[in-house]
Amino acid sequence: MSNIESEIKIKSQAKDVLGVLDFEAVEFWVGNAYQAAYYYQHALGFTPVAWSSLKTGNRNHASYVMQQGNAKIILSSPYSGTNEMSAHTAMHGDGAKVIGLRVKDAEHAYNEAIARGATSVTTPTEIKDEFGSVRYSSIKTYGDTIHKFIERDGYDGIYMPGYHKYTAAVETPEKGVVRIDHIVGNVNWNNMDKTVKFYHEVFGFESFIEFTEDDIGTQYSALHSTVVRSANHRVKMPINEPAKALKMSQIEEYINFYHGAGVQHIALSTNDIVATVSSMRDKGVEFISVPPSYYDNLLDRVGEIKEDIDLLAQYGILVDSDKDGYLLQLFTKPQQDRPTFFFEVIERHGCQGFGKGNFQALFESIEREQAERGNL
Ligand code: FE2
Repeated sequence: MSNIESEIKIKSQAKDVLGVLDFEAVEFWVGNAYQAAYYYQHALGFTPVAWSSLKTGNRNHASYVMQQGNAKIILSSPYSGTNEMSAHTAMHGDGAKVIGLRVKDAEHAYNEAIARGATSVTTPTEIKDEFGSVRYSSIKTYGDTIHKFIERDGYDGIYMPGYHKYTAAVETPEKGVVRIDHIVGNVNWNNMDKTVKFYHEVFGFESFIEFTEDDIGTQYSALHSTVVRSANHRVKMPINEPAKALKMSQIEEYINFYHGAGVQHIALSTNDIVATVSSMRDKGVEFISVPPSYYDNLLDRVGEIKEDIDLLAQYGILVDSDKDGYLLQLFTKPQQDRPTFFFEVIERHGCQGFGKGNFQALFESIEREQAERGNL
């Protein structure tokens, strides 16, 4: 069904101009970080490890650093209705504001990015406490989203200066998430190429197309997608834009409810997707479902896999493959009332694609969800 090899058209080779090493924490600005932290802990398996709040001397906002494996998510809520954070949550609802990127040198990354045409948000800043120092800087990307460059080699404390250790009321087990695999951005009509060009020119990232005009799935899924990634492949960011199709594009639905471009989903990688998904389901996390017929002839489409098909079918886990191997994945339903941000859980066995082969199968369930929301 899928043949990523023919789809990957490398448009330019990556040059590591900013010294990007990996994803760092993604910060969400939300309406009620305290309650969101409970969901992230109990349902998704993150542990609240640090916080900044009135009790630690922060009179502007509360932030909880949630960690699982190497994946870090910060949940922040404002204390007043008149700051940037409250304006952002009023406009966008809960959403990913800051995509953190760990860099070798936050000042170099910033200076190079600005010289290459990026817009500044925060000039290079150093913060210190008794555990060492962290240097950071930030620039704008699509919509109101920003990238924060974080240099933390010189820091041994909990997260970064200004944060204190947080101890949850009860301890909970993790659910097998290892790291952030990729982060997907949705941009408005005809803005994908411009956004991809930004990552080429400012970051030196390479890009390849996963969904093209010719793909049968495109007429249904109604999106174009190009992936940008860092030279070391640790940072992978597909960029989607809406496309004209038979029905309303799911990307357009996102844009309408987020009121602009933003992060559509974060893929969390696991080494045991059945365990991760089943334990999340047990705690009430809702996933998109495909019809049972998806599993008919699955092996003909994807080739040999080591997992038991009946077990994958039981948990609704999807499979895709390319010449290098296969991947297992599943998508949650939106993680807030607005049909905007959701999570993906992914387990890779060689395959470096993003699940294009599953799009047609997913289409029907996505369309059904959109129809239930009155947005088709
Ligand atoms: Fe994805």
